Amino acid sequence: MSPVDSSHLFQRPRRLRRTETLRKMVRETILTVDDLIYPMFVMEGEKQKVEIPSMPGCYRYSLDLLIKEIAEVFELGINAVALFPVIPEDQKDDTGTESYNPKGLVQETVKAIKKAVPEIIVITDVALDPFTTHGHDGLVDENGTILNDPTVEVLVKMALSQAAAGTDFVAPSDMMDGRIGAIRKALDTEGYINVSILAYSAKYASAYYGPFRDALDSAPKFGDKKTYQMDAANSKEALKEVELDIAEGADIVMVKPALAYLDIVCQVKAATNLPVAAYNVSGEYAMIKAAAKNGWIDEKKVILETLTSMKRAGADLILTYFAKEVALMLL
Ligand code: PBG
Repeated sequence: MSPVDSSHLFQRPRRLRRTETLRKMVRETILTVDDLIYPMFVMEGEKQKVEIPSMPGCYRYSLDLLIKEIAEVFELGINAVALFPVIPEDQKDDTGTESYNPKGLVQETVKAIKKAVPEIIVITDVALDPFTTHGHDGLVDENGTILNDPTVEVLVKMALSQAAAGTDFVAPSDMMDGRIGAIRKALDTEGYINVSILAYSAKYASAYYGPFRDALDSAPKFGDKKTYQMDAANSKEALKEVELDIAEGADIVMVKPALAYLDIVCQVKAATNLPVAAYNVSGEYAMIKAAAKNGWIDEKKVILETLTSMKRAGADLILTYFAKEVALMLL
């Protein structure tokens, strides 16, 4: 007699996996291009597109070429771009004053995008690291301590200058305490009631940001970011951060990085009715690219499986450097 008593095997889950048509009928999670936000790097100059060595397939674009690329990805169905500037060393200082220059690179880029492709949603980063000589996200005192409240004052100026340029979302990625509330209050006071806030609420001190720091030349010159970004071992703290950001006025909350933090995405989704974003960061991108280049994995399948896992965990939106590739795959 067979060791499996099939006469009582009433439930056979494999029945619903029999054909692709059946599998499609019962599929729970469908990744679409509407889920994706495309992070892009802008630099000064003209007619330049420079590949980032640790992020093959990602480029720093001069403004003219960035606009062309944005028009193209909008045609492919991508709804939103998240902008990050490459600031020349001679424009950096200790306090990041260039970050709120009304004619700065980010501000001019926002104006140009809004003129060329008015419908695409523009998300601008609010943090000082691309603008400071020391590479930290905040102001630093003589002992190397990152100062919270004085930093928030600068972040508010930065957010207001981005709003004046026409950004749709400001996205504070600095992890200072109280910055969401301070920015919301300032935006409302200045009449920018429709500028939204995408809050990097649970942003971890992660080794997965390495390639991004190469892209911007923004690695901290001393110490690390552990006094402001979160400890990888914590999850309750993420819920506390999310709760605070919601109370302070966030429109969308984010978990970053994504892949090693899917449990956090899942818990945050359960804790709020706001849309939840996850950031598929540079190191996650680089690992897939490197393995694919060696022929060790099937790149397209791994990309789709990875992004689908983020959506399954609860992400409504995914920031990913794969956005254009995925848009082309899903066409
Ligand atoms: C900095 C910032 C970082 C990223 C987005 N904004 C890096 C950091 O905190 O050092 C990382 C994005 C990525 O790795 O893809 N404010």
